[in-house]
Amino acid sequence: MKFVVFFVATFLVASQCYGASFRSFPLQMPTGYGDGASHDDVRCASWRLAVESLNIQSFETIPEECVAYIANYIEGGQYQSDSKTANQQVFFYARELQVQDNDVVIFNVDGTALSNIPYYSQHGYGSEKFNSTRYDEEFVNKSDAPALPETLKNYNKLLDLGFKIIFLTGRLTDKKAVTEANLRKAGFHTWEKLILKDPSNNQKAQEYKVAERKKLMQQGYRIVANVADQWTSLRGANKAIRTFKLPNPMYSIQ
Ligand SMILES: *[C@@H]1O[C@H](CO)[C@@H](O)[C@H](O)[C@H]1NC(C)=O
Ligand SMILES: *[C@@H]1O[C@H](CO)[C@@H](O)[C@H](O)[C@H]1NC(C)=O
Repeated sequence: MKFVVFFVATFLVASQCYGASFRSFPLQMPTGYGDGASHDDVRCASWRLAVESLNIQSFETIPEECVAYIANYIEGGQYQSDSKTANQQVFFYARELQVQDNDVVIFNVDGTALSNIPYYSQHGYGSEKFNSTRYDEEFVNKSDAPALPETLKNYNKLLDLGFKIIFLTGRLTDKKAVTEANLRKAGFHTWEKLILKDPSNNQKAQEYKVAERKKLMQQGYRIVANVADQWTSLRGANKAIRTFKLPNPMYSIQ
């Protein structure tokens, strides 16, 4: 009899525990995304965090089930807010420094200074495989990209503080004229240098940027900050004193 009571009691307790956790899971997801959050939203938010924190180091296209999530992220205000927070931190850091004559802040171009959302919104927010010919034809060569608003604000504040700006891009040197024209049109009216990649240079993105930063240091510049949306622009040797990662869940450059 004792044995039976114990068994029944155990069963009741276990089923209550199971019942409680089972009930709370699908009804109330602690996501912060509100009642309308789907399982894809939750999974894709995790995926995006993994990309931004470099737990995912490279991907060719975004997961198919995350296209709607990424589109909402980009167009819905969160992307701009994340971009603002990152750029503000650059400024909060920079304004505490004693500016020296040779102090520079490096900005990447695509996805950092210039917004390529107009292109990516037409190409599945990163769900289509990247086609560099198409990107050059429809985007780069048009010289019509808008500034990322928060980067432009930050750029102007950094200039006011007395920092020099260097743009360091993986765009090839044959894009120099269109890139200069686009930067000016978007509101970036001055810079110390615009560094583009020689077509004969077959270094990968990170290696190329590390080498260019080394040259800048050898030329006597102090790189106080390096701002980019790709980890390959920020990682590796010859680092800036601080690096700042802008959001970009749409593609990964290697
Ligand atoms: C890349 O884009 C170009 C120009 O639009 C097109 O001609 C070419 O077929 C595309 N390549 C692939 C692999 O889709
Ligand atoms: C883009 O412009 C450059 C420089 O004028 C040119 O060499 C290149 O062929 C153009 N690319 C495309 C895809 O139109």
